[in-house]
Order: sequence, then structure tokens, then C-alpha cells
Amino acid sequence: MKLIISANDGSDGAGRAVALAAALAKSFDAKLLIVQVSDDNFSQKQLAQLEQLKVAEGDALEQISLGILSKAKAIAKDHGATNIDTMTAAGDPAKVLIELAKRKHADAIVVGRRGLGQLEGLLLGSVSQKLASLAPCAVIIVR
Ligand SMILES: Nc1ncnc2c1ncn2[C@@H]1O[C@H](COP(=O)(O)OP(=O)(O)O)[C@@H](O)[C@H]1O
Ligand SMILES: [Mg+2]
Repeated sequence: MKLIISANDGSDGAGRAVALAAALAKSFDAKLLIVQVSDDNFSQKQLAQLEQLKVAEGDALEQISLGILSKAKAIAKDHGATNIDTMTAAGDPAKVLIELAKRKHADAIVVGRRGLGQLEGLLLGSVSQKLASLAPCAVIIVR
């Protein structure tokens, strides 16, 4: 294993995923790439909170993305990862992650079983489900 991608939407599940991804990166001496993808859904959800903020929408969304990444990076460091990159991207999260994994020849993607979605009955979220079916590498789904 040389490159492990940890997809993070700021959810508790994603937090557990980045902890495991970091432990794997440490034991394989692999690079850990933490990725946050802003989709329309994400933007919509944040807009309600953003109304109180006196900053431009784009700037505020960027701040939220960076906040998610820095929290995830701190968890990764706590779990022993040293070679850590972070990135944000925009688009459909599953599509973006699959393209990224292909382009970078990632060895594994680590995700939470569920994310920020509100549909309580779902066993798997839509992103984790699409990745499990379509990713070009191993997919580790963390409870
Ligand atoms: N926008 C995103 N950017 C990065 N990772 C994501 C994103 N959305 C989901 N993920 C990853 O996929 C996991 C499952 O989320 P998801 O399939 O969206 O479930 P839900 O339907 O509960 O939101 C998350 O824990 C996270 O690891
Ligand atoms: Mg989701």
C-alpha cells in the first residue's frame, strides 16, 4: 500500500474512518490523502448556518471545508500518520473520489458507513454504496 484516500464529510463516521486510515497508513508506511468534496447538498446544508455569518458564501464554504480537513488531519496525526496531504474538490462526491483514486492509483479508500445524511433507515450511505460498487481499488467501510 502506497496511497490511502480517506474521504471526509465532517461526520462522526468519517472521523472513525480517518482514524483507521491513519493507522493503516502508519503500518504500511503509506501516504494518507484526506479529501473533502463539496457538493450542492453540502452547500445547501451549510447555507442555513451561513446566514448569520457576514462573509461571502464562497469564502464561508471554503472555511467549512478547511475546518473539516484540519479536524480530520488532527485525528490522523493522533493515530500515527505522518505523511498526510489534504485536498478539497467540488462535484458529485462518489464520482470525484472514484476519478481521484483512478488518477492517483490509490490502493484503498476509507469511508464511514454513513455520513451527514438524514435518512435514518439506510444501512449504507449513497457515497459509501457507490464507492463499494464502482471504486477501482479496495474500499474500507468503517462503522
Ligand atoms: N462530500 C463528501 N466528501 C468526502 N467524503 C464524503 C462525502 N460524503 C460522504 N463521504 C464519505 O462517505 C461516508 C458515507 O457517507 P454517505 O454515503 O454520504 O452517507 P449518508 O447518506 O449518511 O450521508 C462518510 O462517512 C465519508 O467518509
Ligand atoms: Mg452524505
